[in-house]
Amino acid sequence: MESLVDLESRVKSRPLPQHIGIIMDGNGRWAESRKLPRLEGHREGSTSVQEVTRSARRLGLKALTLYAFSAQNWSRPADEVAGLMDLLREYLLKERTEILENDIKLNAIGELEKLPRYVREPLDALREESASNRSMVLTLALSYGGREELVAMARRIAEEVRAGNLEPQAVSEALVDATLWTAGLPPVDLVVRTSGERRLSNFLLWQSAYAELYFTETLWPDFRAQQLCEAVGAFQQRERRFGLTQAQVTPIRLAGT
Ligand code: FPP
Repeated sequence: MESLVDLESRVKSRPLPQHIGIIMDGNGRWAESRKLPRLEGHREGSTSVQEVTRSARRLGLKALTLYAFSAQNWSRPADEVAGLMDLLREYLLKERTEILENDIKLNAIGELEKLPRYVREPLDALREESASNRSMVLTLALSYGGREELVAMARRIAEEVRAGNLEPQAVSEALVDATLWTAGLPPVDLVVRTSGERRLSNFLLWQSAYAELYFTETLWPDFRAQQLCEAVGAFQQRERRFGLTQAQVTPIRLAGT
């Protein structure tokens, strides 16, 4: 079987997606199938977060966005929500050194003010400490919802119009991009969802307009560096047309760009 080193270098030798978004699903099922509490699935899922982040960095991806907690996840049982918050805090404290040493910028999107202080504090500290890192941006989507993000964007633009700083005609795709929580990140090329579900579930709704979608049956706790490479490999097999015809995009592909 091909080693991980060989697999990663094979994937690296072909055009890479710049930005991958991952809907990390299936932690609960992973745990339940082993007769373990659901939180054990989330714990094993944190290890996947570490391994996938390391691999993404080795591959040279520019941005990785992980859907760690949705705006809707607050409605889960209180003990599961508390367990997830504890895991997030643990992760931020434990991964600090590795994130800084690997020149990774930690970013977060979502209604962050809803997070408890014991998560907010290490999150804000690491965002600040890593702000000038350039090799890769790791974005955690926390208390995140794509529709909530679009509403926040619309409100901000409406405020600017009301204040007389902006003409309605000046609202453009570029302005919307720059007003979303993901402002400054490269376009999302690939969205991965684990555990067999085929939905976007309110993740990066605007940003994934042209993204390739990759669905796998693998549950998130089993999704590691090798599975990330398989997803990137599948992306590299696809032809992206951005609304053009096949004939229009073929010369581009032959030119190797
Ligand atoms: C979905 O699985 C997963 C979540 C709601 C949480 C994701 C959290 C982690 C991977 C761990 C903590 C995150 C970080 C960044 C350290 P599910 O519970 O909906 O699974 P199910 O559909 O099988 O029940």
